[in-house]
Formats: sequence, C-alpha cells, structure tokens
Amino acid sequence: MTDTGVELADRAEAAARLPEFLGLLAMALTAQGRARAPYSNFHVGAAVLGGSGAAFLGCNVESASYGATICAERSAIVAAVAAGETTIRACVVVTPTVDPSSPCGICRQLMAEFGPDVLVFAASSASDSVYVARLGDLLPLSFGPQNLGDLGPAAAAE
Ligand code: THU
Repeated sequence: MTDTGVELADRAEAAARLPEFLGLLAMALTAQGRARAPYSNFHVGAAVLGGSGAAFLGCNVESASYGATICAERSAIVAAVAAGETTIRACVVVTPTVDPSSPCGICRQLMAEFGPDVLVFAASSASDSVYVARLGDLLPLSFGPQNLGDLGPAAAAE
C-alpha cells in the first residue's frame, strides 16, 4: 500500500483480491482489441462488474472531433447501466503501457456515482503489473449529489 491508498500487485494478487478479476481482465483485453483509436493509437479496454454479478465490456472510441471521444471505462459503465445495473462493484482497465495507466479524471468522476468503494484495477496488456485502488482513494473529496443539496435530486423529483 502506498501513501495514496494505491496497492501495487500482479495479476495473481489481483485475483486473490477479487475472484472475478481474471474473468474481467480477459474481457477487458478482448475489448482492447476492439478499441477505435486511429488518432492516439492508444488502445484501451475495460470491464466493469455490476452488482448483479454480470460483467460488461468497454473500449475507447475516438472521434475526429477529439472532444467527442469516450474512454473505455465510461463506455463499459454505459453498457452496464443500459443493461439494467444500478450498482458497480469493480472496474478493470487495460492499457498498452508496461506501467498500467490509471483512469482519467472524467472516468473517475463517473465512477464516483457508484460510490467510493468501487474497486479499480489498472492492468497492462504488456506486463503482469496491476494497480489496485478504491475509487475513494483515487478521487478524494469528490463532487457528488450531496453537494447539490436542496437543488439536487430532491428538487428534481418535485
Ligand atoms: N483513454 C481511455 O480510454 N481511458 C483512460 O482512462 C485514459 C485515456 C483513451 C482516451 C483516448 O482515446 C486515448 O485513451 C488517449 O488518451
């Protein structure tokens, strides 16, 4: 464990932490092979584990209008929610970097909708390395529905 709350591990250690890890990793690697990344050539795959126990694939899909690009993690979250998942337990992201890359800030923010206990695994398609962290450690003091207060969900329901 580092002082940021991120644990360094290998695939076997990650599987010991979450039994579904190796299945999620296989799905994320498959999705990585389907990534559409003609501009960055940075192919990313993801798999999220929904509260039902089902898992969902995602990959980055880039646009010639670069800002329209969606990351692998967010596309996997969209797939999970569209399939009816209301909670998310874990997200595995695979990048081609030997040292695994952590999810970007926008993806962390979307994951935060599902609470600080979402377990995030950053794996590599080029090495056995895996980083493991709670979302709450990757995005401390996050903006959330509590910040919306009376202007938030309660007001919207009226
Ligand atoms: N990307 C992801 O899919 N996930 C991340 O967490 C970081 C970045 C994608 C976005 C873009 O298509 C490419 O990687 C390079 O930034």
